[in-house]
Amino acid sequence: MAAQDLYEKVVELAVRRGFFWQSYEIYGGVAGFYDLGPLGARLKQKIVGLWREYFIKRHQDLVVEIETPVIAPARVFEASGHVEHFTDPIVECMKCGRKYRADHLVEDKLGINAEGLSPEELTKLIREHGVTCPACGGPLGEVKLFNLLFKTTIGPYEGNIGYLRPETAQGMFVDFKRVYTVMRRRMPLGIAQIGRVARNEISPRQGMMRLREFTIAEIEFFFDPENPMQGLEERLAERSREKIAILRAEDRRRGEEKPSQYSLEEAVREKIVATPWMAYWMLVAQDFIQALGVPRQNTFFEEKLPEEKAHYSAQTFDQLVKVSRWGWVEVSGHSYRTDYDLSRHMKYSGQDLRAFRQYPEPRKVKKKIILVDKAWLGRTYRSKAAEVLRELSSIDPETVVKMLQEKGVLRVAGVEIPKDKVTIVEKEVTVGGEYYIPHVVEPSFGVERLLYVTLEYAYTVKEGRTVLRLPRRLAPIEVIVLPLTADEKLVRRAREIYMDLMKKGFDVSYDEAGSIGRRYARADEAGVPAAVTVDYQTLEDDTVTLRDRDTWRQVRVPCSRLAEALRSFLNGASLDDVGAKYST
Ligand code: GLY
Repeated sequence: MAAQDLYEKVVELAVRRGFFWQSYEIYGGVAGFYDLGPLGARLKQKIVGLWREYFIKRHQDLVVEIETPVIAPARVFEASGHVEHFTDPIVECMKCGRKYRADHLVEDKLGINAEGLSPEELTKLIREHGVTCPACGGPLGEVKLFNLLFKTTIGPYEGNIGYLRPETAQGMFVDFKRVYTVMRRRMPLGIAQIGRVARNEISPRQGMMRLREFTIAEIEFFFDPENPMQGLEERLAERSREKIAILRAEDRRRGEEKPSQYSLEEAVREKIVATPWMAYWMLVAQDFIQALGVPRQNTFFEEKLPEEKAHYSAQTFDQLVKVSRWGWVEVSGHSYRTDYDLSRHMKYSGQDLRAFRQYPEPRKVKKKIILVDKAWLGRTYRSKAAEVLRELSSIDPETVVKMLQEKGVLRVAGVEIPKDKVTIVEKEVTVGGEYYIPHVVEPSFGVERLLYVTLEYAYTVKEGRTVLRLPRRLAPIEVIVLPLTADEKLVRRAREIYMDLMKKGFDVSYDEAGSIGRRYARADEAGVPAAVTVDYQTLEDDTVTLRDRDTWRQVRVPCSRLAEALRSFLNGASLDDVGAKYST
């Protein structure tokens, strides 16, 4: 099958069977927006469920999930740096007015990697190579930066600007102190969120792979930078020899395109991945992607070059998966966000978002204490004196010493205190610990991309027929019940079984329209792993056939044990094992 065809076939199947289609179809569609149909919505729920299992449930000693709003006041994204940095280069045709993402245009026309180039560099390349408007051939203007945040107003006040979140992460940062407190100051602490985000992409052209509104599943994992292995020892010991496929930035610079295999232990020891927890989450991400049906050799982590990284990141790896039309595409990003976000929110909100590091033993430390002549302060500044003292107590004593040395006066709360009114004493005090700003690593997944990838890898053709080999636990419909023919007696019994399986909690469907062959084919195409057929023997001995989507083989199972047999099959048992165990 030609590569191009596979993408088209997956999309054709997705639209026809109700996995996804372009939003607002009846109005001509809008690029970058996709709807999920009945099968797609359920597939997404199951992918998210699997993500929850791998990233939250299996780490519930450390990770908790929260939910925060899609809209945030401007201040949040000023603090996070998105108002300043969340931009893509844009260029406009001077003749027809069409706008393009400049780096992509340059990449398409010149076949080079233009990610991270400045607007000036892009403008120069466009001029030097005579790149023109792909639509009308007109001349292109200067490349500028375009901010991808969707802007809105909060309430009926024009000046009250809000933005739709471009990542869920900021919800975890602004809530860090509260979750940390609620979790009884547990560290390390992972805060997870799954939710909708919006990015005003300039000209999205990659279907489900580049959306203007989509779902992110991500964890902000907070840890003590002085104890970066905390909480990891047991897990590391268990998995230290497992390999992660990584293509390092320095190797990319040398033109290398293939990843190398590093054990988790090696990635940590050699600092190939900047901090241990990030390496661990990458291993989990590798497992998770395989659980979606992507073979191990079709996914790896590509370290981003400094010019490709987001503004908040000290080191980033994109997890790439190979897809038919676009080659290697990013399905998750793994960034070491350091203390960048918490520090910025502390600065912009004025709130203390630090965690507390308890010393193993209390320590005696020498502490400088600043004393101000209070009588003088009261006489001189009267009602302002209390505010001056309050502000003074929040300033680091070393800063005060430095200010007095350099300026000869202390400036605090808008007033001046001369040197001779300040005394600095050193005292020995016992302290139990200290405050610090946690560091953060972030695994972040685009859910709709995962959905597309899952569908593409499940798409197979057997004897000229489409079989969607979705991993059994991700199948939107787990089992379909079919009467062999439209005979009323068979239909009645089949419907009883259908209702019974529904009551027992299966995702079950029923089909009596058309020949049995056509119905099997329809179920295979929708990725239904198991088909239960009611035939004439059922009426005699109350057994049904259980058919495997992938092998098309069948075993007979008594109705009394059908639910049990199905559970075992859906949990991964082979049809032969199910037959051996549950047949009469
Ligand atoms: N929070 C990850 C991202 O914005 O891509």
